[in-house]
This record gives sequence, structure tokens and C-alpha cells, in this order.
Amino acid sequence: MSIKGIITLPGDKSLSHRALIFAAMSNGESQILNLSNGSDVISTRDCLEHCGIEIFDNGHTTFIRGGEFTDPIVDLNCGNSGTTTRLLLGLLAGKGINARFVGDQSLSSRPMDRILNPLAQMGLRSKSNDGKLPISIFKSDLNGISHNSLIPSAQIKSAILLAGIGADGETSTTESILSRNHTEIMLKKLGASLSTNNLKNTISKSSLSSLINFNVPGDPSTSSFFSTAAMLLPNSSITIENILLNPTRIGFYKIINKMGAKLVYFNEKISFGEKIGSLKVVSSNLKNINISKTDIPGLIDELPLIALLATQANGITEVRDAKELRYKECDRIKAICKNLINMGANIKELEDGFVIKGPTLLKAAKIKTYNDHRIAMTFAIAGLVSNEDVELDNPDCVSISFPKFFQELERLRK
Ligand code: S3P
Repeated sequence: MSIKGIITLPGDKSLSHRALIFAAMSNGESQILNLSNGSDVISTRDCLEHCGIEIFDNGHTTFIRGGEFTDPIVDLNCGNSGTTTRLLLGLLAGKGINARFVGDQSLSSRPMDRILNPLAQMGLRSKSNDGKLPISIFKSDLNGISHNSLIPSAQIKSAILLAGIGADGETSTTESILSRNHTEIMLKKLGASLSTNNLKNTISKSSLSSLINFNVPGDPSTSSFFSTAAMLLPNSSITIENILLNPTRIGFYKIINKMGAKLVYFNEKISFGEKIGSLKVVSSNLKNINISKTDIPGLIDELPLIALLATQANGITEVRDAKELRYKECDRIKAICKNLINMGANIKELEDGFVIKGPTLLKAAKIKTYNDHRIAMTFAIAGLVSNEDVELDNPDCVSISFPKFFQELERLRK
């Protein structure tokens, strides 16, 4: 079996959340094309609507009438989405909104104190379930702080900047390694009073003077699943058109390049401050790699795929300093290791990563997805590589980021 063809993908998930949120903050009507149709982004859209923002679709364009936010009269249901919860906690705190945030079982077990603690320092009054959802926030006057983030996380950085835009005085946040920088890029484009100095971002009270008119490029995290299939299946060649190539998002492609992947970028350009372009990936012979601290933020969502690639690469691959993976939609270190062991891979679980010796033949297995979209998609590709029966316990969870994943994979299978 091989995969061949051309694919365009729904809009990047991180950019889609932000485009909706920043459009809601602007005064007037914004337009977004190719918004992600995954349920995470729908959660952000629903929450904004409950806060009084009007959003409607016409064909492939989403229109957002931004401006005044009001207290939601129902709970803000963030579903499975950490980005929705964390960015909206910051934004609504800065806007003095009273709201109660809830989410599904996975989201309700994820740490929110990383956002609530700095927001409390800024003056936010809130109530949580021991740093987790459900969380209620109460209208408070916020003051700027100088925050040092021990965890390089775009969600933490973005939440603080969004609170800071509504706070008195200056708010700054510094991270130890650059995480995805879409919030900074987009807020600056829209006229926020925000400056960046290396790893430090400083924002002060401002309103957004421009509107969004943006065609969201395809999601590079989603493209990695198809690229992995192309690299691992013989006689494969896939072209992914118009995807986001922001340097903070292509850590996966930088690493697979070092592993020996055959890939080329073309049609590169800048759109709304973000680098975009197309990519061609073909079957490749891979060798092992070591991945550590400075690599992690740039490929955090793609590490399950690195594990799969490592099972087929020559040599020992080590992934370290990736403990954050344990706090994603599920404990992804556990999910990767348990499922790959069941498929016959040679993998050792570490507290902050894993060690894999390749290459090994993968065999039939029943896969526990833990209802995590990226685990489901990774093991769907592992199933193609093994060419044996691989059964996912909840394939539908792919709809969190890419509802048409299986249809597209089927279309490209030859
Ligand atoms: C995201 C940031 C990352 C990533 C998540 C989306 C974002 O999380 O894992 O899928 O859009 O800001 P962290 O900020 O927790 O690293």
C-alpha cells in the first residue's frame, strides 16, 4: 500500500482560535476564510457567542461582529479544548466578565493553575476545583504584572497577554524557549500595544484598531499525519498545499529532515504576518534522532508521530524533557508507550519521554485512543504501516481537529 496525491487542509487550529477571539475583540465586522471545522474551534466560537458576540457563516467565510462582551447566562462549555479555556480565561478576566467555565472529562483533569495563578496575581477573583475546571471568574480590576513562565507554553503566554490588554499598567511575560508566537504576530497586526524583546512580550491597555480579513492556512500539525504516512509507506508521494510554515510550528519537519526525510517546500510567502507554503514528502529511509528541551515546544503536538517514525528508523531514538506531554488531552507518554508496546515496538517509557529502538515490524493490536484525536490519528497511520488489523476504540475523536481525517486518508490510499 502507498499514499499518493494532493491535499489541502482545514485552517490551522491555533490560528483559527485566535482569529475568532481577536475578531471578537475588534470593533466591527471581520471575515475569516478556511476556519478549522474541528470541534475545539467550534467550542471557542460557541463560548464567544454566549458572551454576546455575533458570528455567522456565508459559504466558506465566517463573519464576526466584534465589540462589546456581556456576561454569559450559561456555563461556557470548552469541550475538549485547552486553548479555548486558557485563552478565554485571560481575555474575559481582562474584560471584567463574570463567567463559569466547564469542559469534558479530559479537559476537567488538566491543570489550569498555570493560568489562574498569574491571573490571581493580576487581581482576578476566581473559584476553581483545586486549579481545575469548573472555574468561575468574577469581575475584578486587573493590574499588570511581570511574569516568568517556567513552562514554555503559548497558551500561558497568550492568556496573560489577553488579560494584560485589559489591565492597568504594563504586563510582561517571559518564556524560557520560544513557543508558537501567533498571538504576538496577530495582536501586533491588529494594532495592540505589544512589544517583543527576545523571549519577553510586554503589552499595555489598548484596543484593536484593525479588523481581521484572513484566509487561514492549513494546519501543519494535521499535515504531519499525512507526511508520516508518505514517509513510511513505499512508493508514496504527497503534496500538501497552502499550509502554515511559521518557524515555531515546523519543529516536526526540521526533525524529520535530520532523520533523512525527503521533503521540499515551495510557493513560500507571507500572509497576515505568517509564513505559508506548500510541501512535498515522499517515501524515505529514516535514521534515529535525539530530541531534547529546546526542540520540544516546536513539535509538542507531533511527538506521537515521532514515536511512530522512530519504530521504523534505524537506531535508538530518545525523546526527553517532554513531561508536558503527560498534561495534554491525555497522558500522551503513557498512550504512546502502551499502544506501541501492544503493536510489538521496542519502546521504554521515561518520566519525561521515551526511548525507541528501530526498526521493528508493527503488528495487529487494539488501540486505546484515550479519546485523544492525535493518538487516534497516529495509530490509524501505524495501522497502515503494519498492514494488519489495528482497531481504534474511538476513531470519532479525530473530529476534535480534523473531522474528515479518515475520508481524506482513504482518498489518498492507493
Ligand atoms: C496551543 C499551544 C500548545 C499546543 C496546543 C495548542 C495553542 O499547548 O499543545 O495544541 O494554540 O496555543 P501549550 O501552550 O500548552 O504548549
